[in-house]
Amino acid sequence: MTAVTPFKLDVARIKNDFPILTKAPPGRERLVFLDSAASTQKPRSVIQAMVDCFENYYANVHRGIYSFSETSTERYEAARSTVAQFLNAENPQSIIFTGGCTAAVNTIARSWGDANIHPGDLMIATEMEHHANLVPWFQLAQRKSAKTQLVGVTPDGLLDLTALSAALEQKPKLVAVTAVSNVLGTINPIAEIVSMCHAAGAIVVVDAAQAAPHQSVDVQQWNADFVVVSGHKILGPNGIGILYGKLEHLEAMPPFMGGGGMISRVWNDGFSCADLPAKFEAGTPPITEAIGLAAAIDYLQEIGLDKVSQHEQYLTQIAHQRLNQIEGLKIWGPSPEHKGGIVSFTLAKVHAHDIAYLLDQKGVAVRAGHHCTMPLHKRFGIAASTRASFYIYNDEDDVEALAEALEGLQARFQRKK
Ligand code: ALA
Repeated sequence: MTAVTPFKLDVARIKNDFPILTKAPPGRERLVFLDSAASTQKPRSVIQAMVDCFENYYANVHRGIYSFSETSTERYEAARSTVAQFLNAENPQSIIFTGGCTAAVNTIARSWGDANIHPGDLMIATEMEHHANLVPWFQLAQRKSAKTQLVGVTPDGLLDLTALSAALEQKPKLVAVTAVSNVLGTINPIAEIVSMCHAAGAIVVVDAAQAAPHQSVDVQQWNADFVVVSGHKILGPNGIGILYGKLEHLEAMPPFMGGGGMISRVWNDGFSCADLPAKFEAGTPPITEAIGLAAAIDYLQEIGLDKVSQHEQYLTQIAHQRLNQIEGLKIWGPSPEHKGGIVSFTLAKVHAHDIAYLLDQKGVAVRAGHHCTMPLHKRFGIAASTRASFYIYNDEDDVEALAEALEGLQARFQRKK
């Protein structure tokens, strides 16, 4: 057995900051929440920041010449600066608030894609992409009579960089890649991938939905053209996503959505665009959500992203050791040192949905299904998997609760044979 580095956050203190984690769901004795890869719980400071906005200064932004609107505008723009600093973006104007991570990818596909992809062009994605970083490229290919190709995953769940290198010889226009797989947990070497893609003349769109909440992300060090992040997976509210783009791209791209806020002038027969970032924020933006997201980032930064990663690495290592002792259980993806806090598995003779249902009876919340990654599940020849994902409010007891509940249901299904 490999030695496990026992780095631990003060989970008891952290749990106290999350009102929902202090009680069990109706009809359950406890809540062991292991589904943060789907959506994280929210600390009191995030909830409070949003309540404070609604109760004390809420108004629309960039429109009203009165005190509440000015305060809302200040806080909304301060949130943009918080995000820019968090991702080490060169300029707050390179941060666009969208309705979510999916909306951010679709904005790139519609705005950059419609302007730059032409018939016959090739776009590359990977077999481990979430559908949100696949389907918008398939749709773009359909609109433009362009082509798409997926780069494969090795048997142990790593991105096949040799296959990527070969695919780049075809000179794709764009490469879409996730920083961390939402199923395998695989951490991809993004800076290296970006450098390979740029050398081949491709721009790179990085899905950081499963990375930014868990590890320190530096968009300048990655040198990625576009990076997308989800608000609700990073302790923030849902209804907000982050689109980071290099200024040179954002300035050149036409906006995808038209409406109020994104214009400079409108005539009877046309319009001119507002400057960045407003050009991509048509309509009333996610004001309270941005303020909540900034509070979430403050909370995470106070803990420290390096500590978050180490804590999750520790839980992942003990989860691998413990779950691998269960007969018939197979963990999909690489060994813990190559992955974030995600453990997806199958259990012989038990369907993933049954596992999730039965774990819920024991108060253990996990996700089951294809996790919006059908090509990845097909590549491994499975229809579904069960996924446990860890975050700052999980500890060894949660891993043990998962393992014990799995042992219980494994024994039950063995007896039935
Ligand atoms: N993208 C989310 C997940 O992986 C919903 O579960």
